[in-house]
Amino acid sequence: MRPYARITGTGSSLPPQRLSNADMVALLAQRGVASSDDWIVERTGIRARHFAADGVYASDLAAQACRSALAAAAVEPQQVDLIIVATSTPDMVFPSTAAILQHKLGIAACPAFDVQAVCSGFIYALTLANALIQTGSARTALVVGAEVFSRLLDFNDRSTCVLFGDGAGAVLLQASETPGILATDIHADGRYSDILCVPGHVAGGQVLGRPLLKMDGQAVFRLAVEVLEDTARTVLAQAGKTAADVDWLIPHQANIRIMQSTAKKLKLPMDKVVVTVDQHGNTSAASIPLALDHAVCAGRIQPGDTLLLEGVGGGFTWGAVLLDF
Ligand code: ACO
Repeated sequence: MRPYARITGTGSSLPPQRLSNADMVALLAQRGVASSDDWIVERTGIRARHFAADGVYASDLAAQACRSALAAAAVEPQQVDLIIVATSTPDMVFPSTAAILQHKLGIAACPAFDVQAVCSGFIYALTLANALIQTGSARTALVVGAEVFSRLLDFNDRSTCVLFGDGAGAVLLQASETPGILATDIHADGRYSDILCVPGHVAGGQVLGRPLLKMDGQAVFRLAVEVLEDTARTVLAQAGKTAADVDWLIPHQANIRIMQSTAKKLKLPMDKVVVTVDQHGNTSAASIPLALDHAVCAGRIQPGDTLLLEGVGGGFTWGAVLLDF
């Protein structure tokens, strides 16, 4: 029988610099851009975010998160035989952030690669790691979401720069006879690539285009609410379960209103939804494992709980993972 892939440890990391909405409003005011705590809280639920200092990269945040996940699982780095990092803010064009992370963790020779699916990246990475464990190609995988989105923000665009933050989250995923990941579902639709993008690239030794985040917020909102319900129902059906079996919904932390809408459609009360967007903002691929680790460390998520993880983001991409913790 194929093994299950089971989360045996979680970890996360936030850079020390915390900016409240008041700090952001003051930062924007220096540029002549008006905003307010009331607007940000009412439209997004966000109250604070963390920004990495100059010289701190996604791999640095990832390494801290991985060390915590390994310690929580009581597993030595040398036992890791697969590393997947989901990020849209890699340290370099290449090599992959996963390869750099592997070296920082002192792990030799295991496969390591990045996944680029923006805010759905962690769901994609978990899906891939699950498949590799089920086929016997790996037994002990680090699956990470790590971002320094502050580097992509246009601080003259008040409708986007207040939304995002930096951070990392990691899980250790191990082959197991007990469940485990129960169902996965991932999608992309490139027709919508321009509603959320960073339209820049490197050529001839120069950065061309405009490598700052650009978003049609209302289009993203509409699409997100629709696909998050679909993908949740898909994984529940695959596993022969209903929303009533879910102990915790851990959605991508982009906007409290998207989370409330998804919970309502699934008839899940908000006290079953893990919410950290108020304290972290949107950390893209890091947001789900970061929220998971915070809920585990707070003792809210217990072994045996059924978790529904959902992501949505640029691409347009989306997906879900249903698992027994
Ligand atoms: N402070 C004050 N006013 C602002 C700010 C701000 N930070 N940002 C925008 N406004 C103003 C706008 O200029 C506009 O003013 P106007 O009416 O005078 O033109 C007004 O607020 C309303 O703007 P809208 O864009 O219509 O506001 P909306 O209610 O749609 O909220 C938001 C914008 C929060 C971006 C919303 O559309 C949203 O949450 N979309 C989902 C996008 C999202 O969550 N993206 C994260 C990425 S998704 C992912 O992670 C993949």
